[in-house]
Parts: sequence; C-alpha cells; structure tokens
Amino acid sequence: MDVRHDRILILDFGSQYTQLIARRIREAQVFSQILPHSAPLEQILGDRPSGIILSGGPASVYDRNAPLMPKGLLEQRVPVLGICYGMQLVTHLLGGEVAKAARREYGRSNLIIDDGSDLLKGIGSAASSTVWMSHGDRIERMPKGFCSIAHTENSPVAAMKTVESGNRIYCLQFHPEVAHTIEGFRILQNFVYDICRCRPTWSMSSYVETAVRQIREQVGNGKAMCALSGGVDSSVAAVLAHRAIGKRLTCVFIDNGLLRTGEGVEVRNTFASHLKLNLRYLDRAPEFLRALKSVANPERKRKIIGRLFITHFEALSHRLGGVDYLVQGTLYPDVIESVRFKGPSATIKTHHNVGGLPTRMRFRLVEPLRELFKDEVRILGKELGLPDVIIWRQPFPGPGLAIRVLGPVTRERLTLLRAADAIVEQEVRNSGLYRELWQAFAVLLPIRTVGVMGDRRTYEHVVGIRAVTSVDGMTADWARLPPELLATISNRIINEVKGANRVVYDVSSKPPSTIEWE
Ligand code: XMP
Repeated sequence: MDVRHDRILILDFGSQYTQLIARRIREAQVFSQILPHSAPLEQILGDRPSGIILSGGPASVYDRNAPLMPKGLLEQRVPVLGICYGMQLVTHLLGGEVAKAARREYGRSNLIIDDGSDLLKGIGSAASSTVWMSHGDRIERMPKGFCSIAHTENSPVAAMKTVESGNRIYCLQFHPEVAHTIEGFRILQNFVYDICRCRPTWSMSSYVETAVRQIREQVGNGKAMCALSGGVDSSVAAVLAHRAIGKRLTCVFIDNGLLRTGEGVEVRNTFASHLKLNLRYLDRAPEFLRALKSVANPERKRKIIGRLFITHFEALSHRLGGVDYLVQGTLYPDVIESVRFKGPSATIKTHHNVGGLPTRMRFRLVEPLRELFKDEVRILGKELGLPDVIIWRQPFPGPGLAIRVLGPVTRERLTLLRAADAIVEQEVRNSGLYRELWQAFAVLLPIRTVGVMGDRRTYEHVVGIRAVTSVDGMTADWARLPPELLATISNRIINEVKGANRVVYDVSSKPPSTIEWE
C-alpha cells in the first residue's frame, strides 16, 4: 500500500542553513522540499504541504532588492514558521516594525521562554535555553494579532506567534536548525508534529518504493538510457531505474581514456557482473585523446570532451532505437535555483556532466534523486545493496584526468598522473581519512624541476597533491593532512613514479581557488 507522505515546504531566502533545515525535517521522518522564495504560490501549495518554513537569509527587509514571498502566502490556512529573515519579513509584510538592532547578535544567546504551550513546549527545563543567533535587524513592534513567546537580553521578541488559531504563523529570531541551538530539533519537531500534524512516515526504504513507482509511471512501456560515471549518484539512479523497468534500461559507460587506475574494470564488474545491469561499455579512449591532442586551454578541453560525450550517446541511442528517457543522478543541490546556489562556480568553469545532454538530445528526463542530498543518496545506495566502493567514492569530474594534467594531455602524462593518483588514494585510504575528505587527488604540473637521485641530476615533473574538506563542493578548505601521511605520499610518488622528482601540497581554500586546478 502506498502512503502519501506528509511534507513540509521550505522557502529559501538565501540562508547558509536552508539545507540544514531540510535535513532536520527529514531526520524527523517527514519529507521536506526546498523552493526558491520567488516560486509562484500555485507551485508552493501544489503538493499540499502540511506546513511552510521561511528560511533565514543575508538580506535586510529594507534592502532595495529584499527577497519577498508570493502574495497571499500568509493568508493560507497552512501553518508557517518564519526563521530569522523569515521572521523579519513576516513582521514587515504584516505591518509590524523591524529595525537595526542596537547591538548585532551573533552566536550563543540565552532564550527566556514566556509561553511554552505549543512551539516551545518542553523547551528550557529552567525556563531558558541556549540558542544560536545571527542577525543585525530585530523586531521593534510585532504585527497586529501576534504575541511574544520568548525573549533574550537583546531581543524583546525572540519568538512570536499569532494569537488567533485560524491562521497560524510562528516566528523565531534564532536558528533552531543548527546544532548550537541545544533544543532546536525539539522545536522543529513541535512545529512539524504538533502544529502541522505531520506523521513520521518518511524513510529511505519508503523513498525506494516511491521512486520505483514514480519511474514506472513516468516511463510506462518505454525505454530508458542511463549514463554511468562510476560515481555514487548515477549508480544509485541506475539501480533504482533498473528496479523499476528492468531490461528496458540500458546503462552506458564511456571509457574516455581519462579515467583513474582500475576504474573501468571496476564499473564493469560492479554493474554488469554483480548488479546484473544491462551495460554497454564503450571504449572510446583513442577518439577522446586524438581530439585533445595539443589542447592546453582548460575550457577548450571541457568543451571538446562534452561534445564527444554527446556524439557517442546520440550514436548509441540511435542504435538502440526508441529510447525516449534519460535517467540522471541529478541531486538537489544541482537543481535548486535558490539565491544560495546561484553561486559563481557555474560561470567560472563549464561544468560538463550529463546535465548538458538533454537540451540537445530531446530526451525526457528521469531524475529520481533530485530531492536528495549526497549523504542521503549514500544511505539510499546502501539500502539498494550497492557495494561500499561505489557508495563512498569521492566525486570525480566529468572531464576526468584531462583537467588534472595541466597543459596538453598525452598518454605518457596520463600514465604518470594515474600512478601518482593511485598512491594518493591508497595512502589516504590506509590512513582512514578517505571518507572524511570530500576529495584527495594528484595533479600533474606543466613544469619540470631539478632534483638529485643517487648522485645524479634529474630534471623531471612536479606532482601536486590536493585534498579538501567540503559539504557540497561549493566551498572547500584544504585538508590538514597529518605530516606523516604527506611524507609517505611524497616518498612513494618520488620513488615509484617514473618521471616525478618533486611533490607539492596545495594549501588553498575555495574560494578564492577552486577544487580542481583547471
Ligand atoms: P571546482 O573545481 O569548480 O569543483 O571547485 C567543484 C566540484 O565539482 C567537480 N567538478 C566537476 N564535475 N564536471 C563534473 O561533473 C566538471 O566539469 C567538473 N569540474 C569540477 C570537482 O571535482 C569538485 O568536486
């Protein structure tokens, strides 16, 4: 039997915590979805949300282009929870007054509860609780029909709610979603369970059922194709689609000659042998390498590779005939058009992945993961029986090693980089840090340096090591790898990789650098 899962809708005003709100709601086993603040009212109400959360955001309601919400949203009977900027916007739109706080409030604050009857039920055993603030504006005068339910030393109205029960709006000046707000999860649970009356029915296994059913409905008796990259997202999407439509799904893996050591063999073993998927393995390395000959410009490399992928997919779809659907492992952060994700990265580099395909290929898209985050996809992968090597594989860019061999890409330089990269991966795995790092890899620099080996002068290549921590790849910090690990990696590369005589470690964060070097 299929249960319709209750859902909470989150309107994003650009807060760095919006995704975290979504995660917390799902941790409460209620499905949550994020839409940009500019989404039309029909879309917001379309899936019949049980409650709406207005996120925080960096703007002030008095900014000229302050983000707004669709007219009429606050007049619905769906309960609303405004957080930080969300609270200020509610106040501003309903005729209250927001003003610059005399003192900006960032960090820990002590919340004194004045009404613990619903939203703040069970919070602050001694009538106060530690909360996390981050705001420059504060509520001077509440809109008509609201009453304060909590305050702090600097904010007379740190939480408020509507007095009438018909149109229930709750607001918090602090962030209940962050771990520093000690009882924040309880507050969100109160909102979701008691106020919105959501049932905790959502889990990854129910997600599998729903996704499989939806794919069946969408594809009907049609045929679909799925481009595998060997990474976790496309793999999970493929396995879900396989469950739904079996042999009518053809998976394609293109060996473009730019893969890491052993990658092609691993994908073939996992998908064709172990998971019994219908896999077309296309070895197109010679074509890719020929097209890249003497190309040093990073953007040109990306464009050439992207174009060739399209050519080969098109050719295969013609050979298969009647393929109308393309299964993609698009994740939530890839799709959201929120303020936050209009980041600069898309214009800095032409990010090629299969995302560029459909516009030219006229496929209908099947995107079963478009509402999930990476770590949720990993849980889903486990649920679906994917092996750990796939589930925990670090992200790898579509253009592969071509953008890690700086300068022209040749077979020799790829061989050198592959050997160095395999050492980085082995040693990072041995150290137990592999899962903690977003990525750890080697790059081959386009310069040579002088060294001395066994009393002989050498003049050889430099290998750069990049290791970063990150939540979503949008921002990243260089990983503080233990010096002993760096020493082992460096010794092994210089001793074992023919043609390398120097290793350097990249200590740049993103921004201002990027994760990949090209
Ligand atoms: P940057 O280098 O922009 O990378 O900081 C952010 C994340 O994206 C990956 N990346 C790509 N992924 N196609 C992809 O599918 C690409 O062209 C591409 N370029 C970068 C990168 O590995 C990192 O995880």
